[in-house]
Amino acid sequence: MAELGADFPTARAQATDLVRAHLDDILRLPEGGEKRLVDAMRYAALDGGKGFRPFLVLATSQLFDVAPSQAVRVAAAVECVHCYSLAHDDLPAMDDDDLRRGRPSLHKAYDEATAILAGDALLTLAFEILADPATHTDSEVRLSLVAGLAQASGKAAMVGGQMLDISASGSALDYGELSRLQGMKTGALIEFSVAAGALLGGAEAAQTEALKAYARDLGLAFQIADDVLDVTGASEVLGKTAGKDREDDKATFVSLLGLEGARQEGEQKAAQAEAHLSEFGAAATPLRQAAQFVIHRKN
Ligand code: IPE
Ligand code: IPE
Ligand code: MG
Ligand code: MG
Ligand code: MG
Repeated sequence: MAELGADFPTARAQATDLVRAHLDDILRLPEGGEKRLVDAMRYAALDGGKGFRPFLVLATSQLFDVAPSQAVRVAAAVECVHCYSLAHDDLPAMDDDDLRRGRPSLHKAYDEATAILAGDALLTLAFEILADPATHTDSEVRLSLVAGLAQASGKAAMVGGQMLDISASGSALDYGELSRLQGMKTGALIEFSVAAGALLGGAEAAQTEALKAYARDLGLAFQIADDVLDVTGASEVLGKTAGKDREDDKATFVSLLGLEGARQEGEQKAAQAEAHLSEFGAAATPLRQAAQFVIHRKN
């Protein structure tokens, strides 16, 4: 497997392709009744995503000369969790969104029960991938990856954040409450993606801390941009239904700070994120560019 490109667009495209090829290999269609399940998992995980989290895992791993064959497995595991979270996020009981990545959401393309099960199976597949010795020869590293992804996905992080997001509909959160919500629902998986590269590469504690600080600001910038795009983007460009947050009276950075205030907040978080990378020099150029991508993206 070749090195990632030295600029963000190339590196992200490569990361997306590598993870897709890996998941394509793992998600072979079985014979029998469960074929529909794997078909739905493939629909949710193989096409149309930006591959932002896979990029983060691979680009951070490259800072520490981790073998790409190992890093791609971790990137695939994170993408499985991310895609499961989107499939469940779109369900009628949650955001009730019919469009995802420019196509019908998973429950629209299949049915609700299949979307729930495919999400469940993507979540558990992530841990199957991490626990496999092919991910890392040292079982302690594998255990740390499993524990880290479980924490980033669970009650004190992604799923907890989704609960807060639903509970907050119709209520006005203050800055601290909203930052906590968004840090949990979106930031935690982004932080794990970056921390995983450091973990695989045996980074020093100070390096890991700097990277996590980068990821915390990056994660907030990412969700702030998502909130802004919900207002400014068109569904055809976003690939998901525009204007959904206001329709559902969600607590977002736009509802808190207004459009211009949210934009400025995103810019500030992106600049802070970049500043945390100072000690990594030119090797971290794609990660720095990623912070700008996050706030300037169109979908
Ligand atoms: C969307 O994530 C959900 C959020 C956490 C904001 P992405 O914008 O990364 O979605 P895909 O993977 O590119 O579709
Ligand atoms: C979803 O946030 C975050 C997770 C799935 C964890 P949103 O509900 O804002 O994501 P989109 O806008 O539907 O992609
Ligand atoms: Mg949601
Ligand atoms: Mg949603
Ligand atoms: Mg959104």
